[in-house]
Amino acid sequence: MTRIVVLISGGGSNLQSLLDQCQTGSLDADIVAVISNRPDAFGLSRARQAGVKALTLDHTGYANRAAFDAALAELIEAQQPDLIVLAGFMRILTDDFVRRFPGKMINIHPSLLPRYPGLNTHQRALDAGDSQAGATVHFVTAELDGGPPIAQVEVPISDQDDAESLARKVLAQEHRLYPTVVDWFVKGRLRLDANQVLLDDQPLPKGGRLLDTASL
Ligand code: GRF
Repeated sequence: MTRIVVLISGGGSNLQSLLDQCQTGSLDADIVAVISNRPDAFGLSRARQAGVKALTLDHTGYANRAAFDAALAELIEAQQPDLIVLAGFMRILTDDFVRRFPGKMINIHPSLLPRYPGLNTHQRALDAGDSQAGATVHFVTAELDGGPPIAQVEVPISDQDDAESLARKVLAQEHRLYPTVVDWFVKGRLRLDANQVLLDDQPLPKGGRLLDTASL
């Protein structure tokens, strides 16, 4: 069975949706460990509750980013994962770290990349007068939120939306988008070949596959 390590820093609602799908069997994978860089991350309790190993590697205990990333890479490798899933993991990763897991690490980001990498994505979409917000799952490269997109889901922005309401709506879609993409990987349908994302051996368009909320 596909061994997955999930990295978190906070609430872990995306983690929860993956745990739930593994539990019901709709995702045929084994989440072998959850690792947080913050000892107080609520997602750690979610892991324990599901009977999954919950580990903390506190970045504040390391002299610099390179030292933390080296320790994190070792801890991940010790779990022998096939896939590393970043789910609200709020750390910029070094090049050396990313290079240790080529084609094996994915992230979810709450915007339609390449729009709005980084923080405050929803407020930025509102300020720009966008009609659509959304989320993107992408392979991780050293560039922040810049790796090749795998799939996106769009969420329409209404006149009444503020950053909070939009975040809620997008997060609800993230909970459906992420397991869908993880399922592709688990079934061997998804791979990264020299920066090109392939689904069922077919190259995906630059933004990844655009999924309809109804199809998720
Ligand atoms: C999500 O919006 C995700 O896109 C971003 O961080 C948030 C994590 O939320 N990378 P949660 O911890 O999964 O609830």
